[in-house]
Amino acid sequence: MNKSRFSRREFFRLAGVGVGGLLLAAGSRKVSAAYAPFSVTTGLTPTGDEAAIDLTARAARVNLLPGAATRVWQYQGQGDSASLQTIPDSYLGPILRLKQGQNLRLRFNNNIPDASIVHWHGLSVPHDMDGHPHTVIPQGQGYDYEFPILNRAGTYWYHPHPHGRTGPQAYYGLAGLLIVSDEEERALGLPSGEFDLPLVIQDRSFDRDNQLVYVADPMNGFFGDQVLVNGQSRHTWKVQARPYRLRLLNGSNARIYKLAWSDNQAMTVIATDGGLLEKPVKRPYLTLAPGERAELWADFSAYQPGQKLRLESLPFSAGDGMMGMMMGSSGLPNGSAMDVLSLQIVPATGGENPVLPQRLSDPGFHAEQDAVNRNDPRRITLAMQHMTGTLNGRTFMMNEVAADEKVRLGDLEIWEFINSESGMGMMGGSGHPHPMHIHGVQFRVLGRQVNRQNRADYEALSAGFVDDGWKDTVLVWPGEQVRLLVGFQPYTGMYLYHCHNLEHEDGGMMRNYQVES
Ligand code: C2O
Ligand code: CU
Repeated sequence: MNKSRFSRREFFRLAGVGVGGLLLAAGSRKVSAAYAPFSVTTGLTPTGDEAAIDLTARAARVNLLPGAATRVWQYQGQGDSASLQTIPDSYLGPILRLKQGQNLRLRFNNNIPDASIVHWHGLSVPHDMDGHPHTVIPQGQGYDYEFPILNRAGTYWYHPHPHGRTGPQAYYGLAGLLIVSDEEERALGLPSGEFDLPLVIQDRSFDRDNQLVYVADPMNGFFGDQVLVNGQSRHTWKVQARPYRLRLLNGSNARIYKLAWSDNQAMTVIATDGGLLEKPVKRPYLTLAPGERAELWADFSAYQPGQKLRLESLPFSAGDGMMGMMMGSSGLPNGSAMDVLSLQIVPATGGENPVLPQRLSDPGFHAEQDAVNRNDPRRITLAMQHMTGTLNGRTFMMNEVAADEKVRLGDLEIWEFINSESGMGMMGGSGHPHPMHIHGVQFRVLGRQVNRQNRADYEALSAGFVDDGWKDTVLVWPGEQVRLLVGFQPYTGMYLYHCHNLEHEDGGMMRNYQVES
């Protein structure tokens, strides 16, 4: 095989991850010595800037619904106020606002009666900073995180990662956004401040006393009966008749959304998991699977004050079949039509409106022909066996890495996720969709192929995929094969890849892979 390795410097230039001049003092002990240090100059000056934060997971009560307060688990932040934005009346943790090049020093305190650890979804961090389940800590203990923010501007997030307990812990409220900004993004003049709105979409069910109900079936996952936005129950948002930047995260355990505006206007997408696209793209609707993010340019300036608009999730067939129906929770099945958010237009308060840039960023993609295994891709077959999701026939073992789960630092590889369930599966279902997430990297989706049996269901969702940008989570439909280009830099060590249906993950649909120098 012709190994065409790409140099570290090249990689970061291309990935836009960037950068030089980052004084990676803190993280540098983790960086492989096989490569030149990061401090190659590519224009960025070291900020020397550090965000020091205390993040505590604890029990809390939140007023989500009229009547009794809801008992939740919640991340609470303290420390550097410029980096912390609290969402009132929400169970979500603070939004962590960080800059590329900044050093994050964060103490996690676990005050919930369950072992836990925090994972920074989408970020490139040293392996022992990644929230691997072998690093969980019990109630009353703490974990010190320290790493530089290498990723480009984008909407990332954080959530627990204890093995077997991620689903319930995230469900009871442990999650938050982590927003990174960089120079390239700041130069665009995108809507900011109150016009840059996060929209974390999660489904939940409540009992008559307003308490959260978590009943998940291992085959399909948890499905609630209503959608909450930003950890708040449904209400109407007032938005000005002007452009907004909407940062969407599907923070649900298992539900896939087919998001559309109620007046059928197209969705203008400007970013995916790993930040801004090269240029905006339009979709009739946006398909967002658990773990995925997308950013929209939403221009309300053509609406009249007083007008109403909804963001809804359109119905689709998720093919879960009889088994899901029989075992499912009280919630609405995957693919049900649901209301997400109601907007009411109010007059703009003046000022010049930002204009949507026709060129957003230089994503710096790698070339497929540079993949070391382009003639023999790494194939990972996704299956359900004995009610458990498997990856190449295996389930999660805490410290196990199989021979075919080792990659080399600096290599660019092609990975193919193959969802082996197809056509009329068990009791009439057509199989299970799996949103596959790889830790420690941002990848590119090179192509997709679906078999004939699953094509009809697939085509009712696939126009809403946005494969144009950097991704860390990708939906793999039953009968589908998705081809990725993924590079392993700059850290060595053991990382995870898994299904981000949290019940599949908790059931063991997760494996380690090892980056070796
Ligand atoms: Cu968002 Cu391993 O997870
Ligand atoms: Cu799955």
